[in-house]
Amino acid sequence: MCGIVGFTGQKPCVDILIESLRRLEYRGYDSAGIAVFENGTIRTAKAKGKINEGLVPLINRGADDLHTTDFSHQTCGIGHTRWATHGEPSDVNSHPIGNGRVCIVHNGIIENYREIKEFLIGAGYSFESETDTETVVKLLDYYYDGDPIEAIIKVCAEIKGAYALGILFRGFPDTIYAVKKESPLIVGKGNDEIPGNFIASDVAAIMEYTKDYYLLEAGEIAIIRPDSVNFLDIHRRPLHKELRTVDWDISAAKKGGYEHFMLKEIHEQPSVLASSMAVRIKNGLPDFSECGLTREKINSYSRFFIVGCGSAMHAGIVGKNLLEGLGRVPVTVDIASEWRYNDPLLDEHDLCIVISQSGETADTLAALKLAKERGADTLAVVNVVGSTIARAADMVIYMSAGPEISVCSTKAYAVQVEMMYLIAFAVTLAKGKITEEKCREYIAKLQKLPELVSQLLEDKTDYQYAASHIMNAESLLYIGRGLDYALSMEGSLKLKEISYIHSESYAAGELKHGTISLITEDTPVIAVATQTALIDKTVSNIKEVKARGAKVVLVTRETQKIDEKAYDIRVNLPEAADIFMPIITCVPLQLIAYYTAVQRGTDVDMPRNLAKSVTVE
Ligand code: F6R
Repeated sequence: MCGIVGFTGQKPCVDILIESLRRLEYRGYDSAGIAVFENGTIRTAKAKGKINEGLVPLINRGADDLHTTDFSHQTCGIGHTRWATHGEPSDVNSHPIGNGRVCIVHNGIIENYREIKEFLIGAGYSFESETDTETVVKLLDYYYDGDPIEAIIKVCAEIKGAYALGILFRGFPDTIYAVKKESPLIVGKGNDEIPGNFIASDVAAIMEYTKDYYLLEAGEIAIIRPDSVNFLDIHRRPLHKELRTVDWDISAAKKGGYEHFMLKEIHEQPSVLASSMAVRIKNGLPDFSECGLTREKINSYSRFFIVGCGSAMHAGIVGKNLLEGLGRVPVTVDIASEWRYNDPLLDEHDLCIVISQSGETADTLAALKLAKERGADTLAVVNVVGSTIARAADMVIYMSAGPEISVCSTKAYAVQVEMMYLIAFAVTLAKGKITEEKCREYIAKLQKLPELVSQLLEDKTDYQYAASHIMNAESLLYIGRGLDYALSMEGSLKLKEISYIHSESYAAGELKHGTISLITEDTPVIAVATQTALIDKTVSNIKEVKARGAKVVLVTRETQKIDEKAYDIRVNLPEAADIFMPIITCVPLQLIAYYTAVQRGTDVDMPRNLAKSVTVE
């Protein structure tokens, strides 16, 4: 959470910093700020609220922390967009935070900031903000005697927790220093068009300017000047680092004519589903040998654990259903923040699959580390290449879904589910539960799904109509059974996340054990019924809520015959075999949530209180 950027070069930096911050705003938008060198002095402009609401008007007024500053010509600076952890969203808690000699932007959490603060107060320092970050600034100042590297090394030896820091030191007016542990940080290399160099929390932030970057690892220090980038380890030894190049285009990180990133990303699903599976299928069969998940390895595992947070965990529930149903292997699926503290029973005979779009989620990372400690093999299903989870896992399956900018996950969830199919087929085949021929049949059916998803995107009238019926509700329920229950969870999360309507998902058969008392004519119910063996049972439950006044939106197969009196609005899905319905079903649920949020006028891509990358537990 929080995004950091920096630029030093031959061009004015403020527009570059603001533009790069806009691309990082998905990481948090409680406040934003920049700090630049002005004739050797550090000037800071920062404000509560989103970039366009607080920071940009401030800069346009030429206002900084103390003076009036014309922000048009400075060439070295750092910037930050914040998701508040320590201290409420406010101007004073915004980054950059500095004291005239040292100024920093920070992504992460300093766990031992209280002890450091006490020490610094004893040493005569006073504090203005409630942030943990201010302790790092003051500690850097305490150790800074004209040698920035020495100060950084001493501070890194004392602070505990996760951090990526961009630092300006008075006396070095064209240089940005950077260091990291856990939180992500890259160093971008400029070119003839943009002479200069960058830092950023992710590559998408600076792709407008360059595609070449270095990945900073824990304990590495970067010294970024207009015409050079140098790396040192924490003992001051020079490092040679590999220059990487992004292999996707900047258009992937832009809205491309859609009103919101979320809508664009929903529309990208047919193409990313097709391309992501293509690289994992060889000769008609799933193939993960490239990442080390061979048939022999799969056969050596007796149990499977799937761990993730939010939508990623929901994808894991589909995975459990498939792995157990087809592969007949025992699978535990859990929320990472719970699992990591539940003393899970796993050992060297097990495989722990962690799922994470960002590859940075703190609880998922901790779950992965725990699984490794217990001797289990770890497999990460991750979207962001080179992310912390990807690097920490024994094996990685990259989702190749392209950048997902909207905070609300859509295409990443769909591809996570798709990867669950491929893994489940690979396991089922390796365990000898199906023949290669049967597996090829499954794969051929999977390959048809992108086309079916495309069909769902052709006409949005039904989703808009359903949205117009739920947009004024104060609360609603999503119900389903089996795989449909897993999809209800995902649909409910999407809706509450972006429309702010309270919603719960419930196993349809469990309603009458308590929850049905919530049903009134003001409580709409979204019922998902796609699983042939369970549809009649679900329809009985739908009739129970209908009889108590609920308005029912039924999401079901187009060919399914269902008593018209059982529902108010019907959303039809194209036909596929039962096990493949999740990838189809998720699309109308995403769009119902999307249009409900649009009709209620919420900030779809940046819903309140959230951030895309959750690097705190
Ligand atoms: C919901 C959503 C979140 C994420 C969760 C895990 O729309 O996006 O629930 O799925 O925060 O994030 P990753 O996958 O990055 O670990």
